[in-house]
Amino acid sequence: MYKIVLKATRMAQDIVEKVLKEDDFAVDATLGNGNDTLFLSSILNKGKVYSFDIQSYAVDKFKKVLDEKNIRNVILINDGHENILKYINEPIKVVMFNLGYLPGGDQSIITKPDTTLKALEDSLKILKPGGIVTIVVYTGHVGGKEEEVALKNYIKSLDPKVFSVMQIKFVNRDEKAPYLIVIEKNDSCNVNK
Ligand SMILES: C[S@@+](CC[C@H](N)C(=O)[O-])C[C@H]1O[C@@H](n2cnc3c(N)ncnc32)[C@H](O)[C@@H]1O
Repeated sequence: MYKIVLKATRMAQDIVEKVLKEDDFAVDATLGNGNDTLFLSSILNKGKVYSFDIQSYAVDKFKKVLDEKNIRNVILINDGHENILKYINEPIKVVMFNLGYLPGGDQSIITKPDTTLKALEDSLKILKPGGIVTIVVYTGHVGGKEEEVALKNYIKSLDPKVFSVMQIKFVNRDEKAPYLIVIEKNDSCNVNK
């Protein structure tokens, strides 16, 4: 029987699993230790994953994992997700963001409001109708709250005729508990609009 796990990262994957087909293209905007990339790669038997991280440490480490597992459908990009349009010009079905810092890594290297918003705005341009963006948000670290405020202001401004935006958040836990934002590009929209 399917077991629901009420954890933001896991719920993001559960939702993505429902929309992603094996020949789609997807983006992991924050590679880190590569959990979302491995998850996306396992679905995309005929498609591919573009995975971004500014830390060469994370990219190099994960390249070894890909080689060991003989995974060939992941394109690792050691650059900021704000440059997504430099690397991708095909319609994308799913973009996953996991904000904040790399667990077990340098906690001073964090995602930032300006670059996160640029990446999100550009992701929405290449998102297929019916496609989704998931964003796991953390507010407990220095800089997290500022990023959350910027993000909230931006997503609230999205045209509801074009995008549906929801958040999944604990009601009975610390305000700082991670939570999930899901953005869907409504099906009736033209990807080139
Ligand atoms: C919370 S971690 C991601 C965790 C990852 N999903 C995993 O499974 O381990 C956030 C990552 O975003 C990266 N990052 C920070 N700013 C970035 C940017 N502008 N573009 C791409 N990655 C960035 C950090 O280096 C860090 O590895």
